[in-house]
Amino acid sequence: MKILLPGGAGFIGSHTAVELLNAGHEIIIIDNFSNSNKKSLNAIKEITGKDFKFYEVNYLDEKALDQVFDENKIDAVMNFAGYKSVGESVKNPIEYYKNNISGALTLLEAMKKHNVKKFIFSSSATVYGDPETVPITESSKTGGTTNPYGTTKLYIEQILKDIYTSDPSWDICILRYFNPVGAHESGLIGEEPKGIPNNLMPYIVRVAAGELKELSVFGNDYNTKDGTGVRDYIHVVDLAKGHVAALNKLEKEKTGLYIYNLGTGKGYSVLEMVKAFEKATDQKVPYKIATRRPGDIAECYADPKKAKEELGWEATKTLEDMCRDAWNYIKKQDK
Ligand code: UD1
Repeated sequence: MKILLPGGAGFIGSHTAVELLNAGHEIIIIDNFSNSNKKSLNAIKEITGKDFKFYEVNYLDEKALDQVFDENKIDAVMNFAGYKSVGESVKNPIEYYKNNISGALTLLEAMKKHNVKKFIFSSSATVYGDPETVPITESSKTGGTTNPYGTTKLYIEQILKDIYTSDPSWDICILRYFNPVGAHESGLIGEEPKGIPNNLMPYIVRVAAGELKELSVFGNDYNTKDGTGVRDYIHVVDLAKGHVAALNKLEKEKTGLYIYNLGTGKGYSVLEMVKAFEKATDQKVPYKIATRRPGDIAECYADPKKAKEELGWEATKTLEDMCRDAWNYIKKQDK
């Protein structure tokens, strides 16, 4: 199939681009490099030995999008162009709602106009808010998001459900990511947050590299195994393969609206992450216990059974792989 990837130069988009090309699909990337750079495009080509079309386009630009759809016979769209920083979204809600929601609407409108109805959406476990029980299944309650970023994911999910109700010839898959980490084993693509990282793994990596003094562990008084927050960390390559599996499902089913958790089903605490990273990389990660971060929850991990049963997909990479690959990527960039 020929897949359009808005935001395909970014962290998750670039890894998915690689897996789609490896699986024999054609891709077209559009990106405005607002949180990515051109070198990842070359890296995708280097890893796969395959070429693809690229447009430097903002996905909010209706005219430019129209041209992309006019010039290419697109079968499906996977949207990676959303903004994703929780802290930034609290400071700039208008920008977040505009980029994520208007962007998705612009894209969906262009799809409708060109009769392209297969859509895979990058959602997040954040739509579950503070879960009543773990592991979280797809039918667990959603809502109660604590920041505009999370709310954009929740609203776009609702928009997709409404579109499907209005026209059941759409074929939509919502993928709820847990905590994507790691990098491609080549070290050619990975995560490069601008400024001081907010998320745990990128922060640990910067501390290990000596660029940041120490990790602040946000709270050790949660009701968890060691008091620190527990999350379901998933290797970005496993996550990328989940998109290929979702695409296969859409190809087979023709129409429908599907929702899957993409996680490993295992929860690790912050301190377990620190230890695993130290062991996998032989680096020291100094840390101090700090106060809780507002909006954080104690525990969040997936029940990944539905994706296994219906997509034939499951995460296979270990925590050691995640730590080693994240470190390998940063070492390569810092050279
Ligand atoms: C966060 C977002 C989530 C988003 C995801 C993207 C919130 C409430 N949720 O998830 O919406 O989809 O990022 O990957 O922000 N931690 C520390 N010290 C740090 C950084 C993090 O102790 O410097 C802890 C956190 O308290 C948490 C765990 O590490 O227990 C993971 O944090 P993080 O990587 O930011 O992800 P989430 O908060 O789960």
